[in-house]
Parts: sequence; C-alpha cells; structure tokens
Amino acid sequence: MKKLEMLYSGKAKMVFKTDDPDVYVIEYRDDATAFNGQKKGSYENKGILNNKIANIIFKEIEKHNVPTHLIEEISDRETVVKKVEIIPLEVIIRNVAAGSFSKRYGVPEGTALKCTILEFSYKNDELNDPLINDYHAMALSIATREELDEISEMAFKINEIITEIFKKINLRLIDFKIEFGKTSDGKIILADEISPDTCRLWEIGTDEKMDKDRFRRDMGGFMEAYNEVYKRLSETAF
Ligand code: TMP
Ligand code: ASP
Repeated sequence: MKKLEMLYSGKAKMVFKTDDPDVYVIEYRDDATAFNGQKKGSYENKGILNNKIANIIFKEIEKHNVPTHLIEEISDRETVVKKVEIIPLEVIIRNVAAGSFSKRYGVPEGTALKCTILEFSYKNDELNDPLINDYHAMALSIATREELDEISEMAFKINEIITEIFKKINLRLIDFKIEFGKTSDGKIILADEISPDTCRLWEIGTDEKMDKDRFRRDMGGFMEAYNEVYKRLSETAF
C-alpha cells in the first residue's frame, strides 16, 4: 500500500489517498483548535497521543462487534483506515450535563441526567455546526430514518463500550462526539476518532478534567492529561 496525495486537511488531521481505492491513510498533526478554529495552538506529540489513544479505543469497539474504519496503525501519527464518505453529522452522547448542554439549558456542569442524551449537530463549519434533530437531518437529506436509527443504536452501544473502557482507567465519560461514514458498499461504520479531543473525561473521585477542556478553558496541564490517558490505556488489559 502506497500513500498518495492529500485529499483533505482538517483541524487536527489529514486524509491521504492510497493506491488501494478502498483505503485511506489518516495522519494526526499536533494542532489543537477550539470554538470552530477561533482558538489555536500546537502541542508537541499531541497527534501521536491521539492516534494511539483512538486506535486502542477503536480496537476495543471492534471486539464488541461494532464496525469501525480502523485497519492498521502504520506509524506514530499514521493509521490506515477503510475509505468512507463521512456522514455530515456530529453525533453527541451525554451521560452527565456539561459544556454546551449546561450553557443552553442552564444546568450546572456535573448534574446527573435522568436519561442518556443523543444529540445531532450538522457538521458544517460555515454554519458553526448547528444543533439539529432527526427531522432536520431527514429533510436536509443528511440521512434517512433507517440510517439515523442505525447510527443512534451504534452510538448508544459505543457509549456502553467506552464508558467501561474509561471506568477501568478511573475516568468518568461525561460526554463525547463521534462521526460515522459510509463505505463504498453502503455500510455505516464508526469513523474519525475517539480521543480526549472528542470526549469529556473526569477523574473519578476528584472530577479533575482530563480532556480538551483544559485547552478550551486555559486550565494548563493539557498535554500532561493526554499523556496520562494514554499511559493508563496502554498499561491496561481490556
Ligand atoms: P459540547 O458540550 O461543546 O457540545 O461538546 C460535547 C462533546 O463533543 C464534548 O465531549 C466535546 C465534543 N466536541 C467535539 O469533539 N468537537 C466539537 O467540535 C465540539 C463542539 C464538541
Ligand atoms: N474541534 C472544534 C474546533 O476547533 C471545537 C472543539 O472541539 O471545541 O474548533
């Protein structure tokens, strides 16, 4: 497999074509952004940590029979993945109130929720990823009813799997964002990444933040937290 030209450059990673039409390579950079790219930074080794963290988690998810794009990690920053067309939905699961949910509904961060929440945002930087519901997604031809049901079911299952993974390393999964893609034969699989960039993770016992909120909120100790998450994941047998 040969890595060919870059197809797409996102805020923290790039996607490359390969000589295999069904395969891409993703490469993680050290960039950190927040608030739709308004806040920017670069942190040595961040890309390496996110690549390795995402791959450990995706491997676990695969073991539980949820299909993902993961094929193989080929270097510290590069992973071979199945080619998909990303469905332009940010699928968010919330186990505990935090972030934009807390702000929007006036609920203090850390408040328990009566049920797990599934939320969709329309993945569109120009529009600032607006919150949408199922009907918006269907009306805008982003996904069909059947696809939304499949995506929702997979998202809840992924929540169960990764809640357990993080619990084993003493972290509480507060919320997270995932993205799905469609393979050339129409199958929906988990794509993009799961890392401290895309999850809120609070230390069990102290509620210390171990995720990108440390960058978003200028709390310091940003890479220390990512290093610690990786260290714990890599030292744990799942
Ligand atoms: P929010 O509370 O800001 O809506 O974020 C919910 C979760 O989604 C949180 O774990 C952070 C993650 N997230 C992303 O991965 N990318 C994004 O662009 C945003 C806004 C949130
Ligand atoms: N990833 C998003 C951005 O850059 C937002 C975030 O994670 O807060 O802008």
